[in-house]
Amino acid sequence: MTNKITSYLDLAKRLAREAGMYALAEQKKVLQIERKTNQFDLVTNVDKRNEEFIQSEVAKIYPDHEYLGEEGASTKTTSGIRWIVDPIDGTINFAHGLPIWCVSIGVEVNGEIECGAIYDATRDELFSGIRGGGAFLNDTPIQVSKITDPGLSLYVTGFAYDIAKNEGKAMERFEAFLKRGLLVRRLGSAALDLCYVACGRFDGFFENDLSPWDSAAGKIILQEAGGKLTQYDGSEYSIYKKGIIASNSLQHEMMTEIVNSV
Ligand code: IPD
Ligand code: CA
Ligand code: CA
Repeated sequence: MTNKITSYLDLAKRLAREAGMYALAEQKKVLQIERKTNQFDLVTNVDKRNEEFIQSEVAKIYPDHEYLGEEGASTKTTSGIRWIVDPIDGTINFAHGLPIWCVSIGVEVNGEIECGAIYDATRDELFSGIRGGGAFLNDTPIQVSKITDPGLSLYVTGFAYDIAKNEGKAMERFEAFLKRGLLVRRLGSAALDLCYVACGRFDGFFENDLSPWDSAAGKIILQEAGGKLTQYDGSEYSIYKKGIIASNSLQHEMMTEIVNSV
């Protein structure tokens, strides 16, 4: 863990917190909501403002770094350092007034996510992780659960916006868990799903179709908390590929078997 990475994490934490607090205040007002790719895929004025805010704050301090954000902001440089940002993860929940959404900021250095921060303003919970330095919830170290018995476990999944057109066996996978008598939730924020596995609230998470900004920060937070992430086929997880299995490590094999049973 270098001083540079620590500085990136400090900035990510500050910006996630500031953007989250702004969003929480705005959620109580009338939001401007637009549709993106289809009727379910929404964007609000707050997603857009947070994207601009985070990008411009990063650029002020690190003008040579790259930026990749969900709402279209993207810059390319030769620095090898990329800020990967979801200005609001859980936009549907946010737009409907539900308290399950967050701001997610991950920092990738030469292709590896080195640190990340995820802030849930509704609960004042700041999750963070830094390679080799641990994972934290509001500065208290966190760890994945030690539960091995699926019957005592709680899992979470998510569904892509284009599920009606491109279902990709998401429902069959959901059903496969339920038919084995296992408990599965769907919260609507993949970044929080990963944090909740990291701190032991859930024992595992799986989803067909994530984008880099959904899992960039959550990846390092979960790894540092002792969790395991792979693609569906068991290969090393990349935020740029589809299909994630994330677990407390102990149940990874069992989850992989169920996900691939359909
Ligand atoms: C979505 C959420 C949701 C997941 C979707 C994501 P957004 O992100 O993380 O939980 O199931 O796949 O697209 O659109 O709210 O930022
Ligand atoms: Ca997202
Ligand atoms: Ca988003």
